[in-house]
Amino acid sequence: MAHDVRLPSSLKLFADPTRLRIMALLERAELAVGELSRALGLAQSRVSNHLRLLREAGLLSERHAGSSTFLRLSTPRNGHALSGRLWEAVRTDLDSLPEHAADLARMERVLAERRQREGDFFDQVAGEWDEIGVHFASGQARQRVAAHAFAGRHVVADLGCGTGYFARALLGLATRVIAVDRSRGMLDEAARRLGDAPGGAEVELRVGELDALPLEDGEADAVVAGMVLHHLADLRRPVAEMLRVLRPGGNAVVLELEPHRHEWMHAQLGDHHLGLAPQDVVRAFQSNGFEDVVLESVDDQYRPRRADADGPPVDLPLYLVRGTRPRA
Ligand SMILES: C[S@@+](CC[C@H](N)C(=O)[O-])C[C@H]1O[C@@H](n2cnc3c(N)ncnc32)[C@H](O)[C@@H]1O
Repeated sequence: MAHDVRLPSSLKLFADPTRLRIMALLERAELAVGELSRALGLAQSRVSNHLRLLREAGLLSERHAGSSTFLRLSTPRNGHALSGRLWEAVRTDLDSLPEHAADLARMERVLAERRQREGDFFDQVAGEWDEIGVHFASGQARQRVAAHAFAGRHVVADLGCGTGYFARALLGLATRVIAVDRSRGMLDEAARRLGDAPGGAEVELRVGELDALPLEDGEADAVVAGMVLHHLADLRRPVAEMLRVLRPGGNAVVLELEPHRHEWMHAQLGDHHLGLAPQDVVRAFQSNGFEDVVLESVDDQYRPRRADADGPPVDLPLYLVRGTRPRA
């Protein structure tokens, strides 16, 4: 019988309580190394060694954003199947680790601080956001989002509305527009611009998070999320929330950027991801239960201008994903 030489080292990997605590957190959220250390209440030097072992076992995926590296637990592939099987065997029992509840509570605080920092960014730039961040080559994208969201709908929610670029296009189509954003500064700007814009819809502004939307179940006939999902660490909860707040048969429409390499957009536009892979958005829609999920290319480009360098603005391709909440 063949001996698997990795068996002892793989078992050892799962025998360390601190590593199990790390795995339990990184399975739930994507965290930077410093955030993970704070969530565990351990020095970064102690955590780094465990991370090295997890990386070697194929259990860690890493994403670089500016000067930060974000970590998440990944399904091991290519020669790491044993780690994967062992992980599957232990993952359901991690709640029983004595430190788990305290780790989760600290992690929630760390994530809340991050949300606060990210919200502060938009509060600070709210007054000039249209100059900095609302640049599209043809405007087609906005028309397409509005057309898909409308299709005879009455109550449309604009999620991550910013200064109301998409909400403005809905004013002449919907009966009521609910504009949601976590930044009060952006909502103030949206209130000003929507107040001046033509269109008969009633407008309601609500402060809130995309992963806990301030809407009742089934309250919206359609939801749009334009240029906001790339600001979020994780798509699962926000997409589940979109489904929850839609009435059966209602539509969700997402406009997003194709993945790109313009690192400066982290700092200057507050972007968390540099674009999103269209298939990731499609998968998030499908796995949350949307039906008739469609990916469409858009005849428009996002055209931001870099503030710290001369030269022409960059042209970034856009796409649209839409889906319907099942009627049954
Ligand atoms: C790039 S702006 C886009 C604004 C607008 N949709 C547009 O296209 O002009 C992103 C907006 O999403 C908001 N935002 C980011 N993350 C959010 C979250 N987790 N929950 C609610 N709003 C969020 C920001 O405050 C900001 O106003």
